[in-house]
Amino acid sequence: MFEDIKKVRKVIKKHFKYWANGNGTIYKTGWYSNKNWYRYLTLRYFFKRKISIISIQHMLTTLCTLKCKECCCFIPYYKKEGQLLPLTFEKYKKQLDELLKYTDKILIYAYMGGECFLVKDLPKIIEYAAKQKQIRLIHLPTNATIIPSEELVDVLKKYNKKVKVMISDYRINKNVKVYIDEITNIFNSNNVSYEVANAKGLVWAKKYKINTEIKEESLENAKNCYMRRCIHYSDGKIYPCGVGAYIDRNIDEIDVKEKDICNVFDKNMSNKKLCDFFLNDDLEICRHCDITYYPAEVAQQIEA
Ligand SMILES: C[S@@+](CC[C@H](N)C(=O)[O-])C[C@H]1O[C@@H](n2cnc3c(N)ncnc32)[C@H](O)[C@@H]1O
Ligand code: SF4
Ligand code: SF4
Repeated sequence: MFEDIKKVRKVIKKHFKYWANGNGTIYKTGWYSNKNWYRYLTLRYFFKRKISIISIQHMLTTLCTLKCKECCCFIPYYKKEGQLLPLTFEKYKKQLDELLKYTDKILIYAYMGGECFLVKDLPKIIEYAAKQKQIRLIHLPTNATIIPSEELVDVLKKYNKKVKVMISDYRINKNVKVYIDEITNIFNSNNVSYEVANAKGLVWAKKYKINTEIKEESLENAKNCYMRRCIHYSDGKIYPCGVGAYIDRNIDEIDVKEKDICNVFDKNMSNKKLCDFFLNDDLEICRHCDITYYPAEVAQQIEA
C-alpha cells in the first residue's frame, strides 16, 4: 500500500511541477505553485484510493472555424474519418461519468477543441460539469470567432465562480476575423468570468513532425516537450498530449500502443491502470514525434 502512495505522490508532484513551471503557459495560474495541494491530494488518495488529476483537456470536437497552420493539436490536419464530431450531451455525460469513476479530484478540467463554441449542447454540458463536486475549476477555451448564444452566456454567468472562459487573442493576425470586443462586452455586462490571452510577443512553437518509423532519439527530445503532460481526453481515451489523439485517429501506419493511452471504457480499466498511465514516461508515440522549436506566427492560416 505504501508503495502505491509513493507512486501517486510521484505522479501528482510531476504534474504539479509541469503546470506550476508554466510549461502549459496557457493555463498558468498562481495557486498551482502551492505545495500544500499535492500533499493534500496524496493524503486524499490514502482514503479514497483514486488518483487526482491536476489538469485534463476534454475534447468536445475537432471541428474548428480556423485553420491555424501550427495548431499544437493538429486540428486542421484531421482527416474526415478521424474527426471528432461535436459531442451531444448524452455522449458527453457518459464520457465524463466514466472518467470521474476512476479519479478523485480534478483541479483544472478544461474543454478542448477545435472550437468549443461550435458544440450545440455546450450550455448543458457546462452545467453538468459545473455541478460535479470532484471538479474544482473549469476552463473553456475559444478562438473568439463565434458570438456565444444567450443560453451559453446564462450558464457561464450562473457558474462564474467555477467556469472561466479563456479567450485566445488572435488579433495579431489581420487575416482572421475575431470578435474579442463584442464577446468581452457581453461577458462584462453579464458578469462572466474570462481571461484574454495576450498574444503580443507570443510565439507559437513549431508544429511537430510525425514519422511513421520509430526514432529512439525522439523519445529523449520528448523530455523537453511543452505538450507532455497536457493530458487530453478524447472519445473515452486519455492521451499524454493532443498530438497523441491526432496520431491515434489519423495516422493508420502508426499503431498507438495500449500502454500509451488509457481507455476508460475498457473492461480492464482500473484505478491502478490510470496511475500507471500517468507514471509511464516510455511512450512509443514520442518515438514517432520530432520536435524542433522555432518561432511560428500566431494563428497563421493555411492557405486555401
Ligand atoms: C488547440 S487550441 C483550442 C481552443 C481554440 N480553438 C483556440 O484556438 O483558442 C488551445 C490553445 O492552444 C494554443 N495553441 C495552439 N497552437 C499552439 C502552438 N503551436 N503553440 C502554443 N500554443 C498554441 C491556442 O492559442 C489555445 O490557447
Ligand atoms: S489553434 Fe487554431 S486551428 Fe487549432 S483549434 Fe485553435 S483556432 Fe482551431
Ligand atoms: S507525442 Fe510526445 S513528443 Fe510528441 S507532442 Fe506528445 S508528448 Fe510531446
